[in-house]
Amino acid sequence: MTERLSIDPQHPDPAVLERAAKVLRAGRLVAFPTETVYGLGALALVPEAVERIFEAKGRPATNPLIVHVADLAQARSLARSWPAQAERLAEVFWPGPLSLVLPKQPSVPDIVTAGGPTVALRMPAHPVALALLRATGAPLAAPSANRSTHISATTAEHVARSLGERVDLIFDAGATSGGLESTVVDLTGPVARVLRPGLIGIAELEAALGERVQLASAAMETHQAQPSPGMQARHYAPGVPLECVTGSARARVTQCVAACERVGWLTLGEPHGRLPEGIVVIGLPLDVEGYSSGLYAALHEFESAGVERIVVELPPDRPEWLAVRDRLTRASHPA
Ligand code: TXA
Ligand code: MG
Repeated sequence: MTERLSIDPQHPDPAVLERAAKVLRAGRLVAFPTETVYGLGALALVPEAVERIFEAKGRPATNPLIVHVADLAQARSLARSWPAQAERLAEVFWPGPLSLVLPKQPSVPDIVTAGGPTVALRMPAHPVALALLRATGAPLAAPSANRSTHISATTAEHVARSLGERVDLIFDAGATSGGLESTVVDLTGPVARVLRPGLIGIAELEAALGERVQLASAAMETHQAQPSPGMQARHYAPGVPLECVTGSARARVTQCVAACERVGWLTLGEPHGRLPEGIVVIGLPLDVEGYSSGLYAALHEFESAGVERIVVELPPDRPEWLAVRDRLTRASHPA
């Protein structure tokens, strides 16, 4: 039976944390909130525990996991080298939505890194995540708490719906604020490289480092040995077709309705004008933070409303929207 425990997002109860830490120390799975999305945690240094994460998510063994740490010392103890770039980025952005890819120490099991020589490290900012890491006293491997390739969970309800009985304990601390997964930055080469865009943008990374930061493009990923194996074309996807439209999607939505499709329409900003009958409309804010924070919840809502198709108005092709457009493009990729 999956246990679900309410926990205060700002002041988590030590007794509740200890209960979860015990579950983790027994090698079992705990879903917990981070400032980005809910994570599915297990002891990172215990291969049998990590194995359970892959089983629960239906995740391919080729896709490595992010290891979450409570403090800098723990992060350093898992990395074989700690370049000045890591020091600087950790100083500026940790705790926060940034994962750093570094050469791994032998203590990090191969199953965590999908057999690779590097490990992704992140110190989360959510009080519950940090307190759980401290209570457990060990680093936690934690991917997003959803079935592989599906929409990430931003509430405990999403976790329960996606993973069902596959998780031992779910913390319910309300909705997560960030909404999109962390920025993943590869620091194993001379130039820092963003493998997955996220809440922290390239300009912010460059400002912190005082040097250029590259973006690993999709094209590069298909031609090179996969730098971030999790970046498959289709990801973050709802169970029904999703398509992206530039500009207003009214014409496309009207067409779907005419074809008797039950359609969900995701508008950029509040929807206005008369709405076609029989559609589900959700409007997301025009600012990046508000949009990111609400995106996955909107996709989950369309799913539970039973729509047959989701039509999304793409935010503008500007740097601040990079992560949102990345997720939407992947979600729209044919299965
Ligand atoms: O915000 C987040 O990062 C959330 C919360 C729970 O912390 N976690 C998350 O984990 O999104 P996951 O497993 O869903 O995504 C991890 C991403 C994948 O794209 C994976 O391929 C990449 O990080 N990754 C992990 N380890 C890596 C490594 N050693 N080298 C390159 N990419 C790595
Ligand atoms: Mg994920």
